[in-house]
Parts: sequence; C-alpha cells; structure tokens
Amino acid sequence: MVDLRGRHFLTLKDYTKEEILYLLDLAAELKEKKKNHIPVDTLKGRNVALIFEKTSTRTRCSFEVAAHDLGMGTTYLDPSGSQIGKKESIKDTARVLGSMYEGIEYRGYGQEIVEELAAYAGVPVWNGLTNEYHPTQMLADMLTVKEEFGKLAGLKLVYMGDARYNMANSYMVVCSKLGLHFTACAPAKYFPNAELTAQCQVYAAESGGSITFTEDVAEAAKDADIICTDVWVSMGEPDEVWEERIHDLTPYKVTMDVMKQAKESAIFLHCLPSFHDLGTVIGRQIHEKYGISDMEVTDEVFEAYAESVFREAENRMHTIKAVMAATLGA
Ligand code: CP
Ligand code: NVA
Repeated sequence: MVDLRGRHFLTLKDYTKEEILYLLDLAAELKEKKKNHIPVDTLKGRNVALIFEKTSTRTRCSFEVAAHDLGMGTTYLDPSGSQIGKKESIKDTARVLGSMYEGIEYRGYGQEIVEELAAYAGVPVWNGLTNEYHPTQMLADMLTVKEEFGKLAGLKLVYMGDARYNMANSYMVVCSKLGLHFTACAPAKYFPNAELTAQCQVYAAESGGSITFTEDVAEAAKDADIICTDVWVSMGEPDEVWEERIHDLTPYKVTMDVMKQAKESAIFLHCLPSFHDLGTVIGRQIHEKYGISDMEVTDEVFEAYAESVFREAENRMHTIKAVMAATLGA
C-alpha cells in the first residue's frame, strides 16, 4: 500500500516505480472525477504557498486550480514580490512559510534551493521546476503517454535538443524508473551528465528500460513511440547562448521528416512554451536577428500533434492535484 503523506516531491529519483504509478493512477481518477463534476474538496481549510522565482503559465495555473478543487487556499509569490533570496534566506523563508501553510511549491534556479526549503519547511515541498529537474511535468507526460498507448514500460521515448537541462534529465529519470527506452538525440556536448546517467542506468537495469545517447537523428527516430523536445534556451540562461544553440541544435529540430521516421502511431510531446511560429516576442526577435521562423519544432509538426501537446498541458493540473492530494493526505 503506497502512502505518500508528509513526503516532499523534489525529483522522481526519490520515488519508486510503484509510487510513480500510484500518482499516475490517482491523477487519472481525479481527472475522471473532474470531467464528471464530482467534487474532491477533501483538503478544505488548508493552504499552500506557491513560490515562483521564474515565470510560469501552466505550473502556476495547475497548482492554483488543483488546490482550489481540493478545497485549499493559495498564496502566489511572484518572482519580485517577496523577500526570498534577496532579503531573507531560504532557510528562514522555509520556517516562516512552514508555520502558516500545509505545503509549499517552489519554482526557481538550483535544485539545492528547493532541497534547502524542504529541509527546513516541516511541510511537504513540491518542485515546480528547477534548472535540474521538472518532476511534475514528468507525471503529466507519463499520464498522456499512458492514455495514448495504455502502457508505459517498453515504449521508446526520444528527446531531441539540449539534453543537459531539467526536461531531458527528468525524462531520463522517469523513463529509467518506469521501464521505457530513453534516447537523447543531440550533439555529444549536449548529452546529460555522467553522474546522473550512471544513476539512471541502475534504475533502467531494474525496470527493464534502457538509455541511449546518439547524434544520429535517423537512428533515434526509428521505431520511436514518443518524440519530444524543449526550448533551446531555458529560463535563467543568458541571451548570449542563443547563437550557438541555434547553430548546434537546428539539425535536431523536430520536423515532419523526423516524425515520419518514427512509428506511425507515434506522438509528439512538448512541455511548452514552444517557439514554433512568430507568435511570441522572443520568436520575432530571433527571426529578425537570425532569419528563422521556428526553433525546436516546426509549426507543421506542432499543429499536427496539437492534441497530444495540449492534453499534456491539461494533464499538468490533474497530476499536480494528485501530488498535493497524496502528500497532504486527502
Ligand atoms: N511546462 C511548464 O512548466 O510550463 P510553465 O513554464 O508555463 O509553467
Ligand atoms: N527547459 C525549460 C522548461 C520550461 C517548462 C526551462 O527551464 O525554461
């Protein structure tokens, strides 16, 4: 019997396969209830703090809607509107918020910050994205994959692009825990770090999954069930890296040609936001400077696979609700 009450949710490295599958089942159940207008407000009277040191659309809205559905109150602390880090240490912030709230979400920079928050809060702390990991996103992605294929273990998931950051790291962790075959496809200097890879190799040996790194797009895409990517420059990275990333990662853009080399049943996933057209300020600036109209994925692929991408986005809310319900003991 899985019991996650009182647990932090900082990275899926801390969770067993059974615990991750339990959260996915709970999320599916909560999603079904939401669709049928069955209330789940079992956490009435509790409150959660939502700290965002980086901007967000999906993660913030997911935490707010999920908390409200569970009957809880929320306080949103935006990237500039609190004392955190500037005038007050993480350790002191943790002790203050831990005395007022039943749970704390944190989105920000280094993983060590969310870990310090967790060490001193005395209440569950949930990672809403750090430079290293994005674990709530992984639950949404796995729920979407499970809805699509009816299973997880044995599927081939291919990540194309900068594989050293939160999204690729987290895919490698979740795939190796759950027995999926993970492939990172990028120039070698963008492969995940050796320490995390070694750790995930151990998980994969146990789950029956596998980890492959390749620079060869055709080899990666062959027989893929899921192709995914992420922005080439993540939040918090300096503007100076754009030029090099565009140069290095353009051959790893997800195009229709890539999708055609995957299985016919393959889906495309993107955590969003995505640069697939000129509908964004940054997209237009990059277009002016470098003459390109899309980046990590073409508009053609994005629109052709919009159903899975936006269901993945919706699933953020159901899976985040599952994490809060399970760790707060609803
Ligand atoms: N995918 C994701 O985390 O989106 P936001 O940055 O909008 O929260
Ligand atoms: N790698 C991206 C993910 C955004 C959800 C970033 O950190 O900006």
